Amino acid sequence: MADHPPDEGRRGFLRLLVGGWIASLAGAIAYPILRYILPPPVSEPSGGAVNAGKLAELPPNSGRVIRLGSMPAILIRVPTGEVRAFSAVCTHLQCTVQYRSDIGHIWCACHNGHYDLEGRNISGPPPKPLERLEVRVDNDGNILVARKAGTA
Ligand code: FES
Repeated sequence: MADHPPDEGRRGFLRLLVGGWIASLAGAIAYPILRYILPPPVSEPSGGAVNAGKLAELPPNSGRVIRLGSMPAILIRVPTGEVRAFSAVCTHLQCTVQYRSDIGHIWCACHNGHYDLEGRNISGPPPKPLERLEVRVDNDGNILVARKAGTA
């Protein structure tokens, strides 16, 4: 009785089927992980300013965090009424800073970093000042914020 030669066509088909199944499984596992890890595409304002709301809604000695593209920014109306804006990314370990009206300057809660109203690092671990942003108020009372030319 003769042995049957291996059916190479069937084995090849099964290898292809199993390989395809493994590739599909790997894709099904990797895709949600990559979607979670990679930041979503956010359009950066390219030289254009972001409307950060009405000046009338930002009383003196207050501040709020806004979005400037993918970057958080802090908008502050100092006690004299002038509006300033900075990157809200702490220069120590990138926590988001906030304005503290009780002490009158910018504060990072992560490691008790302090910045003055010029964005200068004045105490705590932050090694550098905050990036200053351009601010102007249009004729309708809108606060417009943009990155300065030449900053990235
Ligand atoms: S991240 Fe801001 S002080 Fe450390």
